Amino acid sequence: MEASMTITCPTTDVERYPMYIGTGILSRAQEAVPESYRGFRPFLITDRNLVDHGHAAKIGTDPASTFVIDPPGEDAKNVRTVTAILNVLDEKGFGRDTLIIALGGGTVGDIAGFVASAFKRGVPVLQIPTTTVAQSDSSIGGKAGVNSDWSKNAIGTFWNPCAILMDVETLKTLDERHYVAGLAESLKHGLIADPAFVEYIETHTDAIKRREDDKLIELAKRNCHIKGTVVERDPYERIGLRFILNFGHTIGHAIETATTFRTLHGESIAIGMLGALHLGAAMNITPVDLFGHTETILRGLALPVRLPEGIDPARLAELMRRDKKAKEGRVRFVFLSEIGRVYVKNSDFAHTANREMIIDACRAIQA
Ligand SMILES: NC(=O)c1ccc[n+]([C@@H]2O[C@H](COP(=O)([O-])OP(=O)(O)OC[C@H]3O[C@@H](n4cnc5c(N)ncnc54)[C@H](O)[C@@H]3O)[C@@H](O)[C@H]2O)c1
Ligand SMILES: [Zn+2]
Repeated sequence: MEASMTITCPTTDVERYPMYIGTGILSRAQEAVPESYRGFRPFLITDRNLVDHGHAAKIGTDPASTFVIDPPGEDAKNVRTVTAILNVLDEKGFGRDTLIIALGGGTVGDIAGFVASAFKRGVPVLQIPTTTVAQSDSSIGGKAGVNSDWSKNAIGTFWNPCAILMDVETLKTLDERHYVAGLAESLKHGLIADPAFVEYIETHTDAIKRREDDKLIELAKRNCHIKGTVVERDPYERIGLRFILNFGHTIGHAIETATTFRTLHGESIAIGMLGALHLGAAMNITPVDLFGHTETILRGLALPVRLPEGIDPARLAELMRRDKKAKEGRVRFVFLSEIGRVYVKNSDFAHTANREMIIDACRAIQA
């Protein structure tokens, strides 16, 4: 059919946002707001734990302009929470000059980013991530959204923040399990893009576990650099480069599903990376010794390196086939050709593997 006419929309401005990384900078959050949004009315979205640990008070917003997600956590990441926040904003007379401030982990960041993208057709959001997952991953790159009643992140948008402020001091109050789990994403960044970062993590494992300020700042900077570089080159997942961030995630997502999310995301990714390294080695893509090397680093960080009891490798393979990132039922993996380098073939970063080999790799990471 021939189009009667076409409408050409001018491309939007280049979206560029600053990141501030430091310690004890939460109370200076307003300074991170770009000049053009300084006069906007702030509205804080956070959760109960951030309030109880005293972080929310440091932002200095009016309690009447605050929404506290309670109870916190993944169960709140749904459209009902989004609707509740949107209604509060509207009811209180917030307008297009609203500045959303998202203070919390990935759950808060994803919900608040989505709210910002929808309220009055889009208002700016300042992301203030407070978990290892959020500081290394979820706050960077503009993915926002919530879960449907059926699947994770089913409803969402790309909505870049106007700025990101990372105060590593906030990580001090995070419980040990969440703290450690999020470190898996840092190691993932090193493994896919930066051998020196892997070495840094290896050398400073204990100091990282002790949450020493300078180590936390260094991690944040390196994570931002790596994830930032990938999303700058593929902001809307169009050229496929962004898929490299899924290293370890094919098996990892299946573990999360198989354990109904009792295994945390980072924990699942830790085990999933080992599975992908084993599979890559079996396919003669990945050097064989990378499995053992990575396992040693993961153990040092106190991350799990084997599947939880009772998970059947064939069931995991089936869950992978049904994953949304599989194409026509073909499971796709990111492989490493060496430490710090992703395997690329025919300009593609995602590769298929046969079912038997996938099951074998899952056996290699069985308890
Ligand atoms: N948008 C993206 O690109 C992206 C990337 C990765 C993950 N995610 C999403 O991120 C979510 C997971 O994020 P998460 O691991 O940060 O979980 P989370 O936000 O649920 O936080 C984990 C727990 O820690 C608490 N908490 C947060 N900061 C704290 C602090 N400083 N001190 C004490 N307690 C604190 C929270 O209240 C919560 O109970 C998932 O929904 C995932 O889908 C999104
Ligand atoms: Zn991840």
